[in-house]
Order: sequence, then C-alpha cells, then structure tokens
Amino acid sequence: MSVIAPLLPENAPFSPLQRAWLDGFLAGLLGDDTAPDPSSPGLTRGSLETASDGRVEPGHDEKREVDFAAAEAAVPEDFPWHDPGLSLDVRLALAAGRPPARRLMAAMAQTDCGQCGYDCRTYAEAIASGAEPSITRCAPGGKATSRMLKELLAEVAGPAAATAVPAAASPVLPPVAPRAAEEPFAARLREARPLNRPGSEKDTRLVVLETGSDAARFEVGDSLGVVARNCPELVGAIIARLGAAPDTAVLSPDGIERPLFEALSEACEIRVPSDQAIEVLSSRAHDIDESRVLQAMAEGYPGAGPDDADLLDLLESFPSARPPLSELVSALAPLQPRLYSISSSPCHVEGEVHLTVAAVRYEKRARRRTGVASTFLCDRVPPGEAVSVYVKPGEGFRLPAPERAMIMIGPGTGVAPFRAFLQERQAIGAPGKNWLFFGNPRRQTDFLFEEELSLWHRGGLLTRLDTAFSRDQEHKIYVQHRLLDNAAELWAWLEDGAHLYVCGDALRMARDVDRGLVYIVAKEGRMEPAAAKAYLARLAAEGRYQKDVY
Ligand SMILES: Cc1cc2nc3c(=O)[nH]c(=O)nc-3n(C[C@H](O)[C@H](O)[C@H](O)COP(=O)(O)OP(=O)(O)OC[C@H]3O[C@@H](n4cnc5c(N)ncnc54)[C@H](O)[C@@H]3O)c2cc1C
Ligand SMILES: NC(=O)c1ccc[n+]([C@@H]2O[C@H](COP(=O)([O-])OP(=O)(O)OC[C@H]3O[C@@H](n4cnc5c(N)ncnc54)[C@H](OP(=O)(O)O)[C@@H]3O)[C@@H](O)[C@H]2O)c1
Repeated sequence: MSVIAPLLPENAPFSPLQRAWLDGFLAGLLGDDTAPDPSSPGLTRGSLETASDGRVEPGHDEKREVDFAAAEAAVPEDFPWHDPGLSLDVRLALAAGRPPARRLMAAMAQTDCGQCGYDCRTYAEAIASGAEPSITRCAPGGKATSRMLKELLAEVAGPAAATAVPAAASPVLPPVAPRAAEEPFAARLREARPLNRPGSEKDTRLVVLETGSDAARFEVGDSLGVVARNCPELVGAIIARLGAAPDTAVLSPDGIERPLFEALSEACEIRVPSDQAIEVLSSRAHDIDESRVLQAMAEGYPGAGPDDADLLDLLESFPSARPPLSELVSALAPLQPRLYSISSSPCHVEGEVHLTVAAVRYEKRARRRTGVASTFLCDRVPPGEAVSVYVKPGEGFRLPAPERAMIMIGPGTGVAPFRAFLQERQAIGAPGKNWLFFGNPRRQTDFLFEEELSLWHRGGLLTRLDTAFSRDQEHKIYVQHRLLDNAAELWAWLEDGAHLYVCGDALRMARDVDRGLVYIVAKEGRMEPAAAKAYLARLAAEGRYQKDVY
C-alpha cells in the first residue's frame, strides 16, 4: 500500500518510477503523517499562527525538483516503519508481508540509539539469524518490544520458536558485553560538576573521566558506554525482602556464579524485572491470587499489577512469592550499559572524556527512585574511582568538512555533542559558520555551558546562538519556535550547503523539530509539504541532516 499516495496529486509531474521511488523513500522517513501539523503542541506559536492550514502555496516557477536519478541509485530498500514517532501497531502493519527480519525490526523502538549494541535493523537481523539470543536489549522499546519480538518469533517459526526465546526455566543469556570494536577500558572519574545553578528543578552534570593518553580513541560524535552498578541501598532492600544473606552464591543472567549482592549490583536489571522473572515469581507464589496477578503481569495485561514496578515493588506487593534465589536472579535481564554523547574533543582536551549527564531521580509509591547509570556517575562514584566504559562510534553523526556551515539543535542534554563539535572546530581552526539552538526550562538556572557558549559567541566561533527557555514565560518556547523565528536565515544557510544536526529527546523534541523544519522549508522554499519533506529526506540521504536522539 502506498504510504504517501494521498500526498501526491494525480497531476504531480512525476513518472511512475519516480512516484514509486518517492513513495518508498518518503515512507521510510516519514511514516504516515503527511503534513506539518500546526496543532502539534510543539508548533503552536509565532509565525505558524499566521498559517491557516499548515500548507504553503508553491510559486509556479520556484517549485523545486528532487534529484531522482541520484536518489534511485542510492536507496535500494525502504523501511517505512523506521520512525520512532509511529506506534508499534502502525510499524508492524507497515512491515506486514516483509521477511521475518524486517518484521522483527518493526518491533524495535526505531531510534537506532545503539544501546542494544546494534542499530534497529542489525539487531533484528541478528535475532532472525539466531546469532543474537536475547530479545530484551531494546531499551527504549522496553517490554512492548520484547513481548512483540517473542510473539513474532513464535509466529514466524511455529511453536518451536518460543523455546528459542530464553524461558523461565533456562534463562541463561550470554553476557551483555559491548561488541568487539567497543572494548571496555577503565576511566577514572575526576568530577561530576553541577551545570545547573542552585534553585533549578534539574540536576545536570559535567562528568569528567580521565582516560590516560592512549586508552580511548574516539571522535567527536561518538558516545561513551558506561557500565554502571545498581544503587547499593536498593540492592540491600531487595536482599532484606528476600530474607537472604548477601554473600549467597547465585547464578547470574550471564551464567556466571556470584555472591547475591554482587549479582544484583552488577549483573541484573532490577528496575524493570523481566517477564521471565515475573513468571518465576508467579510459579513460586504460595498465594493463588498473587500467583494469578503475577502471571497476568508477565503476560502484559495492562493494569494487572502495580504499574512500572521494579523488583522491590514486586517483592513488597507479593510476599508469598519467594523463589529459590538462583532461579529468580538468573531469570532477570542482564544489566545493560548506558550511552552518553561525548561532550569533549580529543583535540581540545587530551586524556579526558567529558559527558553531560542529567541525573534521573523521581518519586513513586512513596519511594525515591534513581536512574541506574546517571546517578551512578553523578552521586555514587567517588572522585578518583575507576569506571568501566567503552566508545560507541557515532556512525552517521559526524562533523562536516571544515569550511561547511553547521546548524546544531540541542535542547537539554542534547547540547552534549555540540560542545565537542565546537571544541574540535576551534582546535582545528575550521572556518565554517556555526549556529547553535539551545533550550532548557529557565535561563537563570539551566543555561548549560553558558559561559563557554557566550565566550564562543563573542569570539565568533559561534556565528549565532539562539536560546529557548521554555518556562521563563507563561507559554512554552521551544527550540523549534526559534527555528521558525529565523526561518529565512535558516533556509539561506541550508541553501548554502549547511549541515543540520539534532540531538536529545527522540520521541517529542526531535519529531516536533522535524515538523518545524518541514514547515520552514515549505514556506521559504515555496514548496508543498511533501516536497519539503523530500528536501529534508535528500539532506538526510546526503548526510547533511543527522540525528543523535534517544
Ligand atoms: C546515543 C545516546 C546518547 C545519550 N546521551 C545522553 C547524554 O548526553 N546525557 C544524558 O543525560 N543522557 C543521555 N542518554 C540517555 C542515557 O543513556 C540514559 O538513558 C539516561 O541517563 C537514563 O539512564 P539511567 O540508567 O540513569 O536511568 P534508568 O535506570 O535507565 O531509568 C530511566 C527510566 O526511569 C523512568 N523515569 C525517569 N524519570 C521518570 C519520572 N519522572 N517518572 C517516572 N519514571 C521515570 C523511565 O522509565 C526511564 O526510562 C543517551 C542515550 C543514548 C541512546
Ligand atoms: N526518551 C527518553 O527516555 C528521554 C529523552 C530525553 C531525555 N530523557 C531524560 O530526561 C532527563 C532530562 O533530559 P534533558 O535535560 O536532556 O532535557 P529535556 O527534559 O528533554 O528538556 C530540555 C528542554 O526541551 C524542552 N522540551 C520539552 N518538550 C519539547 C518538545 N516537544 N520540543 C522541543 N523542546 C521540548 C523542555 O521544556 P519543558 O520541560 O519546559 O517542557 C526543556 O526546556 C534526562 O534524564 C534524560 O535522560 C529521556
């Protein structure tokens, strides 16, 4: 079924071949939404209010052509579901009828975030080929993804396939180790310096890790994988609930025997108990009602048990469920490393790698909860202690040629890689122009790297610095509003060959920014929205529109 057919008028000047190509090409990029939506919460201010229907009338002579010949040769297969903004159902529908690896791919979260050690396509291919036995590695997809992968595997290969998925009784998975190219090494934490001022609702830190002169080879645009440990108080509370001794030897999810405290600290995901672990709890619960609720939770029935329950929540809510320790611990998912965009250039600071980390802390059911890796770095690793890290190459997120202009859009921690980009451009004396859009809640407390960025702005490294402080006024102002405020100049930069970068939140920000960009291209380039989307698709295909989103 054509995904974009409704966008193309019958008399649009495209050959059937061009039409077919454009369909596949745009569907892969855009999914099923067809026009910038001015009612989107991210796009309801400023110049957009003057647009009556979100469309821009094209000037007859100025309608732009897409270079079909080049693109036809360059894009052999389309992935219409590869859009994190589409729902799981829509993604699966778009992949219906495709080979198993593609249907498995459609179940992934589509952010290509790299946390699983692959991208969405290669993770699916590895599962389909049997090379990758774990179906729980897609962190942004969470349980919805792993459950769907399990279902698809069973469907594709018949009932026998279900046994290929690690079952509760035989849950031993291979260790979650980064791929060979991403060898872990020890880096010493020097500091986790606050970047917010007192009074902020956020706690974002500049984490400085000393790597030594040759331990880490990385390029700006890469991310750093951090092998974190769970919060010891939480581990202690779980062990107390289990009524166990911390040094009891247990089998971990990676098949290695460790003392219980160490296993729960270093080898197990305890924030999101796996379905297999919940099944183990259910099968061992003495209370029949508890067993039924746990079984319903393991099968994914919404509202069956406490929402977003971690392992401690389950042990508190279901006191009759006390399986043998090894059975429970080995059924948990392996603890995965977390990725952080590298915030420093090796040309600027030698022997160090900097990260910009937002500490995750929130309260739920009267208990304070903390993000595993962010609070490990911000709160728990004392200065001087070694942390196990690895470099995850940021393929597809790279600086342009030195003379090319860059437009960088990075609200919140999204500014992280752009600090590295700017440091590098300064160090190598790159003559290209640089424009940064930064946003955060409040200028007074949340202007991350204000001094550095202002200095670069005054010194000319940053040709332009535009900020969007969302909560400094009654209505929200986001980076995409600043893009719209500067539409004409932005368009001129793009037409001059500038490269466009977006980093930060994938689900809301990057999607709304993309809509804003479509609107700008349509308005300034005098195009229909479909042609504006094709323009951005072409930039992406040429490596001039790159994203590092999570
Ligand atoms: C390529 C890439 C680059 C990244 N770069 C950065 C970066 O530069 N800086 C950065 O800070 N992060 C970055 N991240 C995100 C980072 O990897 C982690 O996901 C993030 O730090 C949270 O990890 P954690 O282990 O601290 O939290 P986790 O233990 O994984 O917990 C996070 C989870 O807690 C829950 N949660 C969080 N807040 C709330 C709340 N208020 N209410 C209820 N539930 C909540 C959500 O389910 C959330 O998914 C990046 C991710 C990727 C993939
Ligand atoms: N997918 C994820 O799970 C995910 C993604 C990103 C960040 N996070 C986590 O959230 C924490 C903080 O993130 P952060 O500091 O990077 O910043 P952030 O919370 O993403 O916010 C940065 C700025 O972006 C604004 N914003 C909110 N919605 C937006 C939209 N649709 N378009 C454009 N801007 C928008 C925010 O405004 P308001 O807050 O005032 O609305 C704020 O001013 C971190 O722990 C991080 O790991 C999680």
